[in-house]
Amino acid sequence: MRNTHSQALSDRVIGWQRVHGRHDLPWQGTGDPYRVWLSEIMLQQTQVATVRAYYPRFLSRFPDVQALSAAGQDDVLSLWSGLGYYSRARNLHRCAQEVVTRFGGVFPGNAAELATLPGIGRSTAAAIAAFCFGERVAILDGNVKRVLSRVLGIADDLSEARHERALWSRAQDLLPDAEPMTAMPSYTQGLMDLGATVCIRRAPACAPCPLSDMCVARREGEPERYPVKTRRIRRMAQQLWLLHALDGQGRVYLSQRPETGIWARLYCLPAFEARHDLMIALPEAVRDTVTEHTAFTHALTHRELHIHVVTVRQPGALTGPNGAWHGPDQWPLLGLPAPVRRFLTAFEPASPALPGP
Ligand code: ADE
Repeated sequence: MRNTHSQALSDRVIGWQRVHGRHDLPWQGTGDPYRVWLSEIMLQQTQVATVRAYYPRFLSRFPDVQALSAAGQDDVLSLWSGLGYYSRARNLHRCAQEVVTRFGGVFPGNAAELATLPGIGRSTAAAIAAFCFGERVAILDGNVKRVLSRVLGIADDLSEARHERALWSRAQDLLPDAEPMTAMPSYTQGLMDLGATVCIRRAPACAPCPLSDMCVARREGEPERYPVKTRRIRRMAQQLWLLHALDGQGRVYLSQRPETGIWARLYCLPAFEARHDLMIALPEAVRDTVTEHTAFTHALTHRELHIHVVTVRQPGALTGPNGAWHGPDQWPLLGLPAPVRRFLTAFEPASPALPGP
């Protein structure tokens, strides 16, 4: 039996979740591990509002793990396009294939086995197992680390592995004792909801928080000091020059990226490291006719891309690896890097270079 502090904490999270938590998310109210897994992978680095839009579309195209495992990788990447972090989509596809080949098409029923599948880390495995099977396992994603480090007043630097390990152990000790099939989904969702709506990074809403009177960070008066992380990711700045070529019919030239490196296998505007490299890829006759757009930035995990797009109309023959022209009815269906999709969607040809009647 756990101590009364742990008991009170989990009771309050569960009680709060039932009244004030989120209950209308499209991946709730199902015990289907395929649906829960899909939502957890989508939610790993993407806002709930965005996932709400993508999730039903993905599910209607791939209603079960068999359909997803049998799909072509291009189809999966195409439906994922816009969610970013494409390694997630590649792992998602591999994971579906392994569920079929290693587990006969049925997701394993516990967190330990789930965590052996591609793209399923410890916290995601625990979320699936808690939601679908009522397993008593702790989640510890970024939001939950914030909630627990504040309530417990954990001032250790969580970028150090030993401190993170210790927090996992505390999180496990806090799990509710009550009947797990009902308590674990509410508790798990409750911690997620508190982290997303109350115990937020800046200016947390302590007044409505069910844990405020036991929260060390609140008592100290500076909840934003937690969690403590000294190691910051440093992103290297990188310049990227993209050639936005349009032909006489308003089609855009896209080439598929190599198997490795950023945006692997996605369809992209031809990319160059420097302006000069882009220019010499163009026929000489059109080099003076280009339009350069204002640069914009796009953050990847370890890099900050400074993207310069150069538009050229009717450049004639372009030479490049496996490129092709794609009309406005075709390119939106391809797997495109998020900033490329954003640019193409926002781009309004000032004078469509369509041939006259
Ligand atoms: N973030 C990660 N998992 C989530 C879930 N199941 N509901 C809401 N937000 C989440």
